[in-house]
Amino acid sequence: MRQRKAKDLETRLARCSGHMVYKDDGSLREYCIGTTDAQTAGTSDAAVQAAPLYVEIGCGKGQFIIKKAASDPDGRYLAIEGQETVILRAAEKAMCVSGETDWPENVPGEERMEGVSAKLDNLKFISCFVEHMEDFFEEDQLSGVYLNFSDPWPKARHAKRRLTYHKRLTDYAWALKPGGFIEIKTDNDDLFEFTLEEIEAAGLHITEMTRDLHDPDCPYAAKEVTTEYEDKFAARGKNINYVRIEVVK
Ligand SMILES: C[S@@+](CC[C@H](N)C(=O)[O-])C[C@H]1O[C@@H](n2cnc3c(N)ncnc32)[C@H](O)[C@@H]1O
Repeated sequence: MRQRKAKDLETRLARCSGHMVYKDDGSLREYCIGTTDAQTAGTSDAAVQAAPLYVEIGCGKGQFIIKKAASDPDGRYLAIEGQETVILRAAEKAMCVSGETDWPENVPGEERMEGVSAKLDNLKFISCFVEHMEDFFEEDQLSGVYLNFSDPWPKARHAKRRLTYHKRLTDYAWALKPGGFIEIKTDNDDLFEFTLEEIEAAGLHITEMTRDLHDPDCPYAAKEVTTEYEDKFAARGKNINYVRIEVVK
């Protein structure tokens, strides 16, 4: 759902610029490559192993990716969100978690991510709608792609806009290394059934799948780090669908 433009959007986004990367100034590319010239000088390419890079497409207000980055300092995380007003909320949250600013009084308690504290040097945000992965990434660059509670686009004629349309899945797989993964969570049962068909159409390999991720007997680690939407739907008793794909090349 489109959000109303936030007050002082540009000024507030500029304040978060340390947590942002951009396509046009080379900072996205530099972050994705993961090594600087100084680091690579005098070493063979093979010896330089950039930390794995994980991407969330449609990060919303950022709870999931901030928790992921905070708990995994050896990984690098990139959060992509098309709506500037929404990514602002995520980047401001990162500023609070990293201790650069205090939580503003108007942020409700449940959004404050109590107990999460990290510098978050390993997390960047970019404000863009993803259409084609090659506009952002190189082939075999990523270790994981997260699609959490993607917009369902319920009308049949909008099926190609769904982030799990088979051509998009194939596109994510192109950007992933062999052995890389795509993890998908949704409350929307119709979108989930569509997604399973599209995974088959794309010829991709499912390694984990459940229609009730938060069932106490469900063994998957994906339930441990939740998104804002996930918390909201799970609190109402809605089943959360989940599938993990592993890319074979
Ligand atoms: C329903 S929200 C879910 C947010 C968050 N992942 C969560 O689970 O709480 C979906 C978000 O994806 C964003 N989005 C949709 N299509 C996108 C695209 N192609 N590229 C980047 N962001 C996108 C929307 O702007 C929206 O904020």
